[in-house]
Order: sequence, then structure tokens, then C-alpha cells
Amino acid sequence: MSQLTITEITPAFGADVTGVEPEVPLHPDDEAALREAFDTRGLLLFRGMEGMTSSYQRYLASTVIGKSGVAGEGATGTDEEDGAYFVSNRREGANAPFGRLLFHTDMMWADQPFQVLTLFAVEVEPPSVPTNFTSAAARWDALPDDLRSRIEDLHAVHVTGQQMRADPGDADDLLKPVRSQVRSTTKPIRYEHPRTGRSLLYVSQMMSDRVVELGDADSEQLLSELFAHLYDPDAVWSHDWANGDLVMWDNLAIQHARGNVDVEGPVRTLRKVIAPRPVLDATTESPKFATGG
Ligand SMILES: [Fe+2]
Repeated sequence: MSQLTITEITPAFGADVTGVEPEVPLHPDDEAALREAFDTRGLLLFRGMEGMTSSYQRYLASTVIGKSGVAGEGATGTDEEDGAYFVSNRREGANAPFGRLLFHTDMMWADQPFQVLTLFAVEVEPPSVPTNFTSAAARWDALPDDLRSRIEDLHAVHVTGQQMRADPGDADDLLKPVRSQVRSTTKPIRYEHPRTGRSLLYVSQMMSDRVVELGDADSEQLLSELFAHLYDPDAVWSHDWANGDLVMWDNLAIQHARGNVDVEGPVRTLRKVIAPRPVLDATTESPKFATGG
């Protein structure tokens, strides 16, 4: 029987997990309990994980999708070789160093975005900008019947993160990933999760460009209705970071966003590990970052 304690964070999604000790391999029963919680709750929060290595972070990320064997197996001991990178307003060369990020699934523009996204608070100073989450699975289930029937057979195009949907007047703090090439994919708006089979409301404010079957005005109108439903403040949960927090979530079922991060503001350094590691062709570049415009 599992030795972990797993409690709901909100009725719709999220679970708080206690009983995981950094660097200690989990009993198979605990691994199974984590997988079950990950698939049913979509997001897991572990507090007090100070000192956790990137290889243990990678072990947990792989474990929740059933891809792992032994903790530390194949570990190299360096963050880079363990596939970790940083979201930080202080560290040299970090991703998303400043600015605001609209709700999205990472790599939503790709045919197969990676499955698990994990962030570990290496160093955060209060008041740290929270990360905001919503469940695309729970929001599909909560769709009003008339809206659901309108989108049942429609498709949307998702493009490399351009943050196109800033409201007028508040665009200045939006972080603009700049890429020399545009990538895109087309998916059903009712997207079946490849692992859990749950229906997802698969559009995002950051990356969804248009509804394939509709003209421009109707497409924008429908997307704005879907965003209002998906990002209803009552459906969003915000995590206030403390040192040692690890949050891992299903990148497809749960979308994330954040408010404006300032390079002069409190230190906010999060270590990011994803699973499985995506295979990108050699022409896919990392974005550079700019705001405004
Ligand atoms: Fe992201």
C-alpha cells in the first residue's frame, strides 16, 4: 500500500503530495499512486523538496507517465545533461527572463507536445509572481451544452508562441518569444488526451490562431467565448512559490500562465524539467525574448 498522502487542491484538479523524500527511490506502490494521481488530478504539488537534484526531478517527471525505472539511473549529475533548464529573472541565459505569459500548453504548435512539465523553486524571494493554472479537461466537462455542441466537430490552428491576444493597453509587459520561423499544427478543439482518453478543451490564449471552419470574425468570437470559459477566475488556481516547491503537471490537460516578472524584482529562479524529452529537428531554434511591440 502506498505510504504517500495525496489530498485535493481544488475540486476540479490538483493534488498536494506528502511523503516523497528527495533522492529516495519510491516504492512501486508509491509510484503507482503518483501515476494514478497525476492522471486523475492533472497537477501534483510537493513542498519542502529543498536540495532536490535535477536527476531526481527527472525521475519523478518520468515516473508519473510510467517511463522510469530506478531513481538516479542514468543520472549525470549536471543540470544541463539531466535536461534541466531555468526560468529565471537572474540566471544568465535563462528562459522567459521577464514579462507576462498568457495561458498556454508548452509546444502547443507541435504535433506532439511533451507530456509532463515540472518546475522546482530553487530560489524565490517573496512576493514572487505566482504561476496560474486551469484544467482543459475539467473545463471541457463543464462546458454549457450549447457551446459544446457548436465546437464538437471544429478544429483550431496553433502557432509558435506569439502572444497575439493581448488586450489593448496591456500588451507592454507581454513577453514576446521571437522566432525566425513559424511552426503550426491543426487539432480538433475537442482533443482526446493520448494517455488518459479524457476530452480536452484544446485552445489557448497564447497559441491558438483561428478556427479552421470559420471566417475571421466568427473564429475570433468563438475563441473569445471559449477563453472566457477556460480562464474563468473561478476555474483558475494560482500557486505562490516558496523555496523547495516542486509542481508537476500534465502539459496537455493543464494550461499555465504567469503575471509580469521584472528583472529588477524579487529573485525568481525555477528549474524546469520536462518528460519525455522532445525530439526536435535541427532547424527548430530556441526563441529569443523581447517585450512590447
Ligand atoms: Fe510555458
